[in-house]
Amino acid sequence: MEKQTQFTPTDGPSPLDVLILAAGLGTRMRSRTAKVLHRLGGRPLIAHVCRTAAALTNRPIYVVVGHQAEQVEAAVREELGEHGASFITQAEQRGTGDAVMVARDALAQAGSTLLVLSGDVPLIRAETLGALIQQHRTHRGRGATCTMLTVRLEDPTGYGRIVRDEDGRFQKIVEQKDATAEERQIKEINAGIYCFETRTLFHALERVQPLNVQGEYYLTDVPGILRAEGEDVSIFLHTDQREVSGINTRVELAEFERILRQRTLRRLMLDGGVTFIDPQHTYVSTDAQIGRDCVIYPDVHIEGNTVIGDDCEIRSGTRITDSRIGNGVRIKDHCVIVESEIADGCTVGPSAHLRMQAKMEAGAAVGNFVEVKKSRIGRKSKAMHLTYLGDATIGEKTNIGAGTITCNYDGKNKHETVIEDEVKIGSDTMLVAPVRVGRNSVTGAGSVVTKDVPPDTLVAGVPAVVKKRFSENKEATKDESETMKDESLVAQPE
Ligand code: UD1
Ligand code: CA
Repeated sequence: MEKQTQFTPTDGPSPLDVLILAAGLGTRMRSRTAKVLHRLGGRPLIAHVCRTAAALTNRPIYVVVGHQAEQVEAAVREELGEHGASFITQAEQRGTGDAVMVARDALAQAGSTLLVLSGDVPLIRAETLGALIQQHRTHRGRGATCTMLTVRLEDPTGYGRIVRDEDGRFQKIVEQKDATAEERQIKEINAGIYCFETRTLFHALERVQPLNVQGEYYLTDVPGILRAEGEDVSIFLHTDQREVSGINTRVELAEFERILRQRTLRRLMLDGGVTFIDPQHTYVSTDAQIGRDCVIYPDVHIEGNTVIGDDCEIRSGTRITDSRIGNGVRIKDHCVIVESEIADGCTVGPSAHLRMQAKMEAGAAVGNFVEVKKSRIGRKSKAMHLTYLGDATIGEKTNIGAGTITCNYDGKNKHETVIEDEVKIGSDTMLVAPVRVGRNSVTGAGSVVTKDVPPDTLVAGVPAVVKKRFSENKEATKDESETMKDESLVAQPE
């Protein structure tokens, strides 16, 4: 997980509140989904901003919601959990100034310093915001009531421009759409991130009018209003352009995805000691953990909160989501592993599918075209070919022959299969659940097992019947039929 330093600006002279603007639809995304819900590194944009905000204050984070408020609130709650969030609804999106204004009742009396963030500026780091807050506190001593984050961009298209006077002091912000040709030449832009003294902010907001091309209430008018009234506006000019860039289109979203991914992979290579054969074509979520000396081949996707131990090899075309993988695990090509657990020394694939709490204990193996759902495979047990194991519990050192299927669904309900230790399930066995196969038993090739099989027993046929019982030394106790000598009953590919 990308750790962020915990700042404690709450120790300062006035407490810090954080307000995140996230009510807009994001028209330029051309989506039915609110922009802040689009995913970056596997997490909604708003979740990135919330995590950063939570590193700055212990107070609940204020979030202005509007478009798809319910889903946005859910995404915020999922990220912030215990930390807590307070939601304010902006019924109609009349601009960023209006968005802050709806938070007035919640915030104006707080007497706090307010950090305003945009839900669509996801890469901003807590360290940078900490420095911004620090500068605001220093300059406030000298009368500044607003500190804004700016950056110079080679291509400032779309952003609000920072207009300075002849002395280089802040004068006003002009939005792209309202800017003159000359103002559009300005490279210094507004990042949409500001510190305000709350009382001054709401006082100035009352004077904001929607007298612009878009007919919106611009928050960006506030610093100019303060300046015109003789207040001091301080500028924090940042150098990292990417960090303060906003996402407005899907092209920018894809670009950010690339940047974030590179950051994650660099960290894993430099700090984590992980080998990526081709980092350009490997996809790892920000929250995933990968252990030392793992080797990850191209076109692997590691998603969500996946944790992978040391010395694993993961071959091409595999996706692993929200799973735990132990040490020394080999995952061959084209596997899908979702919400599952794989212990030390297991091998998986090629083309295996593990899902819904599939669990493999140490040294177990599943191979070609094997699907495992909600099942546990015991230590050193194997299912190597063309098998479906659903709702099954499999003991240790058991071998599941090619083409075995746990018939777990009767059309209405799911039923469980239990296969105990050291069992040999013959090729093409159908296990009609609920059913149990006792320890050290064997099923013949092509058996349809409809009844429980006691321990130390060979069954075969359709439906399977007892053919033989083994003594402890695995010799036949009574020779029930000559077919017992027929090895083909249990024959299976290796
Ligand atoms: C804004 C700034 C611009 C700055 C840029 C930086 C204004 C008027 N302009 O422009 O100077 O360079 O950010 O990224 O502020 N929102 C609401 N309610 C609304 C409108 C917007 O909550 O009524 C939210 C959006 O969901 C978004 C954020 O405010 O998270 C910014 O809005 P957006 O429309 O993206 O502003 P920009 O045009 O990018
Ligand atoms: Ca924006």
